[in-house]
Amino acid sequence: MIVGISAGRQKGVTSAAVKAVLEKSGMEYEYLSLSGKKISGCIGCVRCGADNVCKLKDDWNAIGAKLLKADAIVFGAPNYGGTINALGHACLERMFCFRHREVFSLAGKLGVIVSVEYAREKENAVHNFIQKVFHTQMIAIVGSVFATGYSQCYTCGFGENCGAGNVVRDHGFIDEIKDEHRPPHFKDQPEAVLQAHRAGKVLGSILRNREENSAHRTPRELPKHQAGKVTP
Ligand SMILES: Cc1cc2nc3c(=O)[nH]c(=O)nc-3n(C[C@H](O)[C@H](O)[C@H](O)COP(=O)(O)O)c2cc1C
Repeated sequence: MIVGISAGRQKGVTSAAVKAVLEKSGMEYEYLSLSGKKISGCIGCVRCGADNVCKLKDDWNAIGAKLLKADAIVFGAPNYGGTINALGHACLERMFCFRHREVFSLAGKLGVIVSVEYAREKENAVHNFIQKVFHTQMIAIVGSVFATGYSQCYTCGFGENCGAGNVVRDHGFIDEIKDEHRPPHFKDQPEAVLQAHRAGKVLGSILRNREENSAHRTPRELPKHQAGKVTP
């Protein structure tokens, strides 16, 4: 089972990118949106030290339980103010409870990172933060997706005439925001779609192999185009 989490809007770019990875995996998955959820950051009480269970009570606990059961985690978040958004950060912070006393409850799970930002920076702070958390949790990263976000200036209602906003920065002062001005949604970003599909396929393949090995079955049959090319 793969758990896919989006810390972005319900129908935003992050959500679409996370779903693309999940769907391409060909495996059973559960998609979770953090949008609208109440998730406190870690308060550093360390009451999780003895049993690896977070003692705060909010919407995170059910998510934490699903993470523990998952074979793989696809985690996606957008850039807010130059870093990962607060909801995504809070969700990842709370995973602190999983790593005490040489217990790494998420160790060995597979991970895919999805990062979304409007102004693509050289250093991707969102990707780097999720990567750091995955490393400290000993989650094995098998793919990353870098997608372009959707600036809020295109939907705030004032964008075409706002000297401080991204619409005028990118197109000058215009009479009306038309479709040709708008940033592409995820499905219209071929490079990001390819990254998502590649990550999903790799994830699915590794998980299937793990399942087969654990069931002591013989290796999967090779696809027809590869059959006969492998010598024992
Ligand atoms: C409060 C706020 C701050 C943002 N700050 C940045 C930023 O500093 N850099 C950037 O590239 N995008 C920034 N964005 C744009 C988001 O990354 C973009 O809207 C993204 O598509 C949101 O993800 P979603 O579509 O999954 O909801 C900001 C958006 C919001 C709402």
